[in-house]
Amino acid sequence: NTVENFAPRVLAWFDLHGRKNLPWQKNKTPYRVWISEIMLQQTQVATVIPYYEKFMESFPDVYALANAKQDDVLAHWSGLGYYARARNMHKAANMLVDELDGEFPASVEGVCELPGIGRSTASAILSISRDVQAAILDGNVKRVLARFHAIATWPGEKKTENTMWDIAGYYMPNQRCGEYTQAMMDLGATLCTRSKPKCHECPLMDDCAGFATAEPTQFPISKPK
Ligand code: ADE
Repeated sequence: NTVENFAPRVLAWFDLHGRKNLPWQKNKTPYRVWISEIMLQQTQVATVIPYYEKFMESFPDVYALANAKQDDVLAHWSGLGYYARARNMHKAANMLVDELDGEFPASVEGVCELPGIGRSTASAILSISRDVQAAILDGNVKRVLARFHAIATWPGEKKTENTMWDIAGYYMPNQRCGEYTQAMMDLGATLCTRSKPKCHECPLMDDCAGFATAEPTQFPISKPK
């Protein structure tokens, strides 16, 4: 049964092949996971690592970040690009301290109220740091699910995106939630890649509708003209 087996297969693969020693995988507080997820949104892991380490030295917790001068925060971002990410983060740190006693909200809806944090990032933060059963749907996971189900409509359409959120929630296990989130990201980043996916190493191959078409890279389909 695909539904019951999906997460266990992904987790068994993660146990053998997932990334487990990245700096933000130690001491997984909501704050540390949040900063890592924002940095990783448009930037590669290898690039992020030294920025993350330096950022955590200078701003070890949400109070340090809230109290920092915006110019100092931006200086730590110099080279990462997309500076709105840093400005939103600084603003969110101030909201957390001023309105929420420095505590991260416990729900996805609550975390989504913070500037710069959408539903997928909120779910990543809460599942990874607190093992909340909240599914993510970032670009990597969209690709995995579009292939697994050979979804023939474009994920840029709201209706398709909603369907994909439903599917993501459907496979989300109620145990090892954080590891499952990390596993799905890793699967998308290392096996189920945009081009040349390594289907023969994939724990989902046997039930993957995209693999069965012999042309998994046609999914997710590109924007219709
Ligand atoms: N990209 C976004 N979030 C990530 C994470 N937690 N690990 C690796 N790559 C990511």
